[in-house]
Amino acid sequence: MKIDELKRVCVVGAGLMGRQIALNAAHHGFAVRLWDANAEQVLAAERWTDEYIAGRIEKGRWTKEEAAAARARLGFAANLGEAASDADLAIEAVVEDLAVKRKVFAILATNSSTFVSSLVADATKRPAQVANLHYFNPAMVMEVVEVVRGPHTSAETATLLVEFAKRVGKRPILMKREIEGFIANRLLRALGREATFLVDEGYATFEEVDLAAEKALGHPLGPFRLMDLTGIDLAFMIRSSIYASSGREEDRPPRCIEERYRAGHYGRKTGRGFYRYE
Ligand SMILES: NC(=O)c1ccc[n+]([C@@H]2O[C@H](COP(=O)([O-])OP(=O)(O)OC[C@H]3O[C@@H](n4cnc5c(N)ncnc54)[C@H](O)[C@@H]3O)[C@@H](O)[C@H]2O)c1
Repeated sequence: MKIDELKRVCVVGAGLMGRQIALNAAHHGFAVRLWDANAEQVLAAERWTDEYIAGRIEKGRWTKEEAAAARARLGFAANLGEAASDADLAIEAVVEDLAVKRKVFAILATNSSTFVSSLVADATKRPAQVANLHYFNPAMVMEVVEVVRGPHTSAETATLLVEFAKRVGKRPILMKREIEGFIANRLLRALGREATFLVDEGYATFEEVDLAAEKALGHPLGPFRLMDLTGIDLAFMIRSSIYASSGREEDRPPRCIEERYRAGHYGRKTGRGFYRYE
């Protein structure tokens, strides 16, 4: 397939990321169908989409015509068959659980933040067409996506995903070999490891660590503010899965994350994480 033949995109999983990945592609001219195993999430995604689009118009970022066209290209499917049947590209953005991801049979591109696509490719009949397409949150605005080519991924698939990323207004980074966590999250993890160590061992508060990252290093968001945005539940799941596979004590999820996860304080989406939100 050539990029000009790629017209229909199916996004599986309508949570925080899936709904943005879908709207971003629709905004850039692709016909998109979004589906989630939880019907409530499909409704929530539809409400979010309408609110987001209204906000874009209000702020003068999108014209009314542009918004209406993007909205018209985005469909919320009642079942997976309807979403995936004629898709040229299926992007999987379901929960970060490998067993669940392997069941999403139509996977071509996985938005997983950690799992390399080798871990899911053999669950399909076409491993050559499977790769990582990793967006960053908020996917509607973040410029970069990582395309990660596994040993099973064909050159054609990798090229197609790079072209697709460009078409939806992103700057793709094509990784030559796959490694868990990819580039940006590996960098972030190194920072996060130090940040949570300093807090867990009582050297500084999370607010102070954020202040240092933001004002001394010039990061737009400190590691704790960022975790509130991307989800403490996700941060905990990722660290737990790394710990489960390595068994190394230094990979054990940090206390300051685990406590908030157990208390259901997942960050912005629950109104409270490290910080509190109105
Ligand atoms: N949150 C981030 O900042 C971020 C950034 C980049 C990548 N990711 C990755 O994106 C993926 C989704 O993360 P999220 O933050 O959007 O999570 P989320 O919890 O907001 O959404 C996950 C969705 O998957 C749905 N789901 C679960 N099982 C399903 C199935 N079998 N079929 C269809 N839908 C199913 C759930 O109902 C839920 O709506 C994860 O792989 C994560 O690693 C997240």
